[in-house]
Amino acid sequence: MQIYARRMRTVCGRVDQLSMNGKERVSVRVGVAVLEAELLLAVSKLESLAMPRDNMSSLIQRIARQALLTFGNAAAPGANSKTFQENHGKLTDLVTQVRASDLRIAPRQADGSPARSPHSPPVTYMHICETDAFSMGVFLLKSGACIPLHDHPGMNGILKVLYGRVRISCFDRAEAPGDPDSLSPPLPPYQKEALRRSVERSVGEYTDQSAPCVLTPHRDNLHQIDAVDGPTAFLDILAPPYDPDDGRDCHYYRVLQPLSEPEGPDPRELWLLEIPQPSEFWCGSEPYPGPRVSL
Ligand SMILES: [Fe+2]
Repeated sequence: MQIYARRMRTVCGRVDQLSMNGKERVSVRVGVAVLEAELLLAVSKLESLAMPRDNMSSLIQRIARQALLTFGNAAAPGANSKTFQENHGKLTDLVTQVRASDLRIAPRQADGSPARSPHSPPVTYMHICETDAFSMGVFLLKSGACIPLHDHPGMNGILKVLYGRVRISCFDRAEAPGDPDSLSPPLPPYQKEALRRSVERSVGEYTDQSAPCVLTPHRDNLHQIDAVDGPTAFLDILAPPYDPDDGRDCHYYRVLQPLSEPEGPDPRELWLLEIPQPSEFWCGSEPYPGPRVSL
């Protein structure tokens, strides 16, 4: 490219210096036009080389490809096979590496605006990509914001903090039936249908230095996410994506009370009550500024 630019400067300089007749001017203009075309061609070749390199080798592109490889056949027989586990391990390794700068996201500072404002959402989402196999995007939480306790029916998930700190409380759905009549005070009959037995698995805090938080259809499938000490953001992969038409709607819950007090390392059992989406939580959207992903 420098050679083309040098040749262009040389020719232009000669045009300036020459005192030409009409025939010479036409000849030089044709020469300049040819060089301009060559220059444009060289620039477009460089751009075509640069774009795929950015597109194909960016970390987020590699994550997307590995997610497709991992979850593309996850519903097939043998989805819990060694191959799936190996692919999931590779995906987790890639996600572990991702930082806010890889997605061209600048960590935000607390701006003093309340997380609960009627005019701006406490949480926003940057959509990166979605296929039938998985969805990927970034959730950004304002200082003090919370994504209430919710589930991911039949889904896998990987969550990686990009900046700030989150507290994630994880729960399993418990299969064994409980006795709703043991609740005190007792629930009205219409609410008993909305009761779910659950086991609290863990409560942990995560930063950009932490390993990803992983959920599966049967483990840590319900969680609540709180921003701790300021704004925070995390990359979120869900596989397959939410789809109410395919039995994967998002349900919200409220912890009622423990069924059992924790004894030693045993997780405690809880009653959860399914509730409508809490009014203080809503999610806006904003553009994703990072490298494009193509699948
Ligand atoms: Fe979630």
